Amino acid sequence: MKSLRDSLVESARKATAIGHFNVSDLVGLNAVTAAARRLEVPALIGTSEGERAFIGVRQVASVVTSIRDEYDFPIFPNADHTHSLAKAEEAARAGYDMIGFDGSTRPFEENVRQTKKAVEAIKSINADVIVEGELGYIGSGSEIHDTVAESSLILTRPDEARQFAEATGVDVLAPAVGNMHGLLATMVHGDARKHLDIERIAQIKAGTGMPLTLHGGSGTDDGDFLRAIEAGMTIVHISTELRLAWRRGLEAALAAEPENLVPYQLFRKAGEAMQEVVTKRLKLFNRL
Ligand code: G3H
Ligand code: ZN
Repeated sequence: MKSLRDSLVESARKATAIGHFNVSDLVGLNAVTAAARRLEVPALIGTSEGERAFIGVRQVASVVTSIRDEYDFPIFPNADHTHSLAKAEEAARAGYDMIGFDGSTRPFEENVRQTKKAVEAIKSINADVIVEGELGYIGSGSEIHDTVAESSLILTRPDEARQFAEATGVDVLAPAVGNMHGLLATMVHGDARKHLDIERIAQIKAGTGMPLTLHGGSGTDDGDFLRAIEAGMTIVHISTELRLAWRRGLEAALAAEPENLVPYQLFRKAGEAMQEVVTKRLKLFNRL
C-alpha cells in the first residue's frame, strides 16, 4: 500500500494534487471514498477539531484506515487545523497519517516556536506522520460569508515561508496566497470566484522545496486551481462546497418525502450530492 508520503511525491511529479475533503460523519466519508475509488485517485479525509470531536478522534482514524485496508485503496486521515499541542499528540496517538498544526493566528516567532514543538512531539510519537504548518491568514469558517474584509487576510511572504519551513521542520506548508476559508454569498448566488496569486505560490515553492497545501479551496476559479497545482500546490482542501451540497441534498430529500423517517434513505440524497462535488473536484485536481 502506497504511503501518504509516496502519494505526495507521485502527485508532485505528475503536477496533480491530492484532494482533501472535510467530513462530519459517515455520509460525507462514504461520499468522498466512493468518488475517489471510482476515479482511482488518492484522497485525504480531513477532520477539524470540531469534526473530530463530533465523530470521535480515534473513530475517524479507525474507520478511514479500515476502508483503506479493506479496499487496498490510498485514503488517509488528516487532523486538520489542530491548534494545540495536546490535540496534535492525541491525533498522532490515534493513528492519523497527517496532522495540520495551525499556528497561523499567532505572531510569526510564536507560530514558529509552537509549530516546531508540535513537529517534535508528533514525530516522537510516530516519525512517519506528515506534519503541515500554516503561515499567513486566510480567515476562518467553512461557511457562507456576506463579506470578508481583504484587510483581515495576511498573505505569506516567500522569505518568511522559507524561514518558517527551515526553522520548524514541517513536511508540508500551507500558505496564504489569495485563498480564503468559506464561500462568499456572491459565489453561491452569483458567479464570483476566488483568484490566487500564482507568482507567489511559485516563489514559495522555490524557496521551501516542499509540498504546499491550498486551504480554502471552495469557490476557486478552475483555471487558477490548475495554475496553482502547476506552481506547486500538492494538496487542495475543499469543505464549504461539500457542506452546501449536504444541506441542499438533505433539504431536497426532506421536501420530497415529508413522511419518511428512515435516516439512511434521507441521507442517501445528501451523500449523492456530496459525491458529485467530490467527483468534479477530483477530476480537476487530477486532470482526468
Ligand atoms: O481546512 C479546510 C479547508 O481549508 C476548506 O476550505 O471551506 O473554503 O473549502 P473551504
Ligand atoms: Zn483550512
